[in-house]
Amino acid sequence: MTANELRQSYLEFFKSKGHAIIPSAPVVPENDPTTLFITAGMHPLVPYLMGENHPQGTRLANAQKSIRTIDIDEVGDRTHHTFFEMLGNWSLGDYFKKEAISWSWEFLTSPDWLALDKNRLACSVFEGDADAPFDAEAFEIWKDLGMPVARIAKLPKKNNWWGPAGVTGPCGPDSEMFYWIGDPKAVPDSFNDDNDLWVEIWNDVFMQFNKTEDGRYEKLAQQNVDTGMGLMRVLTAINGLDDNYRTELFWPLIQEIEKLSGLEYGEKSDEEYIAEDQKCWVDTRKSFRIIADHIKAAVFIMADGVEPGNTERGYVLRRLIRRAIRQGHILGIKENFTTKIAKVVQEIYGAVYPEILDDKLIDELDKEEEKFRKTLENGLKEFEKFISNPEGNYITRKVGDEIQKADWYANDDTADMVFNLYQSYGFPLEVVFEELKNRKINIDENKLKDKFDKRYKKHQELSRTASAGMFKGGLSDTKEETTALHTAAHLMLAGLRKVLGSHVHQKGSNINGERLRFDFSHAEKMTDEQKKAVEEYVNTAIAAKIPVELNEMTLDEARESGAEGAFENKYGEVVKVYKIEGFSNEICGGPHVTNTGDIVGTFKIKKEESSSAGVRRIKAILE
Ligand code: ALA
Repeated sequence: MTANELRQSYLEFFKSKGHAIIPSAPVVPENDPTTLFITAGMHPLVPYLMGENHPQGTRLANAQKSIRTIDIDEVGDRTHHTFFEMLGNWSLGDYFKKEAISWSWEFLTSPDWLALDKNRLACSVFEGDADAPFDAEAFEIWKDLGMPVARIAKLPKKNNWWGPAGVTGPCGPDSEMFYWIGDPKAVPDSFNDDNDLWVEIWNDVFMQFNKTEDGRYEKLAQQNVDTGMGLMRVLTAINGLDDNYRTELFWPLIQEIEKLSGLEYGEKSDEEYIAEDQKCWVDTRKSFRIIADHIKAAVFIMADGVEPGNTERGYVLRRLIRRAIRQGHILGIKENFTTKIAKVVQEIYGAVYPEILDDKLIDELDKEEEKFRKTLENGLKEFEKFISNPEGNYITRKVGDEIQKADWYANDDTADMVFNLYQSYGFPLEVVFEELKNRKINIDENKLKDKFDKRYKKHQELSRTASAGMFKGGLSDTKEETTALHTAAHLMLAGLRKVLGSHVHQKGSNINGERLRFDFSHAEKMTDEQKKAVEEYVNTAIAAKIPVELNEMTLDEARESGAEGAFENKYGEVVKVYKIEGFSNEICGGPHVTNTGDIVGTFKIKKEESSSAGVRRIKAILE
């Protein structure tokens, strides 16, 4: 059975039971600021589950496009996806448990419909707690349908309660159905939640409650049914497969990746060390899956009007695309490839979801890949440099061909590195986590995330100051000397980056008529030679009498021009960029001298010292 046939027969079945077939809503919720994406078919139906009348009646069914990022870490296994289609049927105060469960059973097992082997099915019901009692009714219905008692698991709220989709709203106990994808001759007698060969394929939710803001469960005026069946998982089951990626909704994508990478899907089933130059261990199958899953999700998200960006939906989209690009890099794909995958997504789904057949999204994807590819290699180099610095991060790793298992500290240095990778190279946090994992480096991810978030917040505050015209706080007056030192600070930062490396960024500055004080990211003490080289860099620029050009542009244009500065969270904003041809190019609110020749005196570093972990401080003057 094909995906189209499955989708059609599901809708036909429920039509025969009196349901109106409604279209899929977009993956971006309409008029709902509380959620980023539609995560289930019930989502757009919340008002009707709460009691409003639906124009098409009290029995509805559809195939709903859904996006779930909560399971994003699980993507890479056989059954979890970011984008999926949920086949659902609803009763809005109409039928209840008996019909819902009996129809699910009939559709799954009847020879007229899916004809799945009854012996490979199991189910679960809610065991009861202080909020709601054991679902004896559902239990009895399953027993009467012939489900062996050992295959009806009684499970707690964690497993058998669904909703609300947000913080408050309709919810209730549910009954889930599982299909055994393992050896058909060795189906266990009972259902075991820990065995992932039992795959959840359908969930019947009995929405009797509304969760209130104070956490109570109040009874809803009407008793609803909300069901969700994973089209992909059922497609895998009915075709006797054990891997969703081998179904027709993924296989052409996998084949395209095989073509692009020259590798075979499934060729390497175990984790192994790959790509000498990349120094990491990967299960290549996982990379195939992540690329296919993420680009598919990206296509559907873009088709509903989202563009890659630095906040909210745009950032989720950006993370999906960038993670896929990194995986392509791991597989050795050297050219831009995401649009090639996206075009295959269009071929697979275009007839059912014509909104994805939009060339604009292909262009958008191409631009996004171009942008990230430019910084990916450099970011990886920066990352490698950091993790092979034994002093800064206490790594227990041998030099040589072998990378050894190492523990990593979620300390301030690491947080600096991660933030720098994000800010300067566009690495999303989870990509960094993945890089560490691929190198067998363990880290306390929560702790690091916490530190990262703190830096991110602090940075946002700085950016806000910047938009108020006070970028690089501490510029206390505009006297000539101060302005000259401010321009000298730009030259110095460029010099530091040239001499010490591109990990150097400004961390703070304070300038007055006498001197400049400047904090920057760098772990070690500077040598005398390094200080001298930076001084020479600045003084050469002063001697060359170069015009200081001021240009206004969008942040993206600034980034593309290679300008140094703060990028995130100001997507689309117009910024000022000061350029000293051949020497410096930096986002800044100004003011500056109009020509480096206006800087009077010789630039001299008076002091170079530690400021805080991973941050050095320079005091400099014009003599
Ligand atoms: N809303 C239910 C789910 O997503 C059906 O599992």
